[in-house]
Amino acid sequence: MRVLLPDLPEFRALSQPDEGGVPGVTLDHYDRAHVPDGPADGVVLWMTGPQTRERLLRTPGLKWVLTLTAGIDHVQGHLPDGVALFNASRLHDRAVAVHALSGLLAAARGLHTFRDAQGRAQWASPALPSDSRLGTLDGLNIVLWGHGHIGRNIEELLAPHGAHVRGIRSATPTDERDDLLRAADWVILLLPSTPDTRGVVNADTLALLKPGAWLMNVGRGNLIVTDDLVQALQEHRLGGAFLDVTDPEPLPATHPLWQLPNVIITPHVASTTTDLVRRGAHLTRDFLIDLQQGHEPDGRVTAGRTY
Ligand code: GLV
Repeated sequence: MRVLLPDLPEFRALSQPDEGGVPGVTLDHYDRAHVPDGPADGVVLWMTGPQTRERLLRTPGLKWVLTLTAGIDHVQGHLPDGVALFNASRLHDRAVAVHALSGLLAAARGLHTFRDAQGRAQWASPALPSDSRLGTLDGLNIVLWGHGHIGRNIEELLAPHGAHVRGIRSATPTDERDDLLRAADWVILLLPSTPDTRGVVNADTLALLKPGAWLMNVGRGNLIVTDDLVQALQEHRLGGAFLDVTDPEPLPATHPLWQLPNVIITPHVASTTTDLVRRGAHLTRDFLIDLQQGHEPDGRVTAGRTY
């Protein structure tokens, strides 16, 4: 089996059996400047630009692609017929869940307002806007829009906090979904970006939310119609927003979202941990061993993927 992998030391170590590598697999490495020629059975996609990705996906003889991301929007629609796609939600689910919990707690405790006040050397309560409330997560209705690996992790982390957690799935009937949105104190977007989910949060959806509700996006920026969100925030219809992903991304310096005090922005880092590359290489090793042993690895993405 010949496999193309990112050119990173952690992935190069997979060629060395005494360092926990995979015997019997020929590994070749690509980077943005170089994609190896010739046929290969599989490609492990990570940290590539669109042009390198397109070249990798045209590799002759390709049978499978493993993308070490949770999202698959960069691959779907670009994959040749008959090539199996695997993703790596399990590499990211804990970090994204911890990031989401951090956002919930930061907002509940007003940390963003105190951090802004710190920049002005301003002590205590004058820092808080008059309509903000300091609280806990006790009794809050938290709606997870998208309820897969990451949603289950968030639910587990929230267990000691006394919140009521409900999930929306693609099978949830629209009237039930809208009732959940109407009752939510927080809506957390965990959806993949697909033709069905792009723009699901728009002026109509935002109008369902109760005054003071917060919105979090740790899915993909284009799930939200950004102008509609900005308007809802400017009109103080929402309590605030916690955004790890935005549309456009990166957010231009002049974008109004930067100026809104009740918006917490992190730059698409929800899944980042300092040991991510090492963990990605371990996941790849386990994946290749599964294939060598004739087992189907975890993460197969099937047609009509839902949430
Ligand atoms: C990050 O956004 C991912 O999809 O893994």
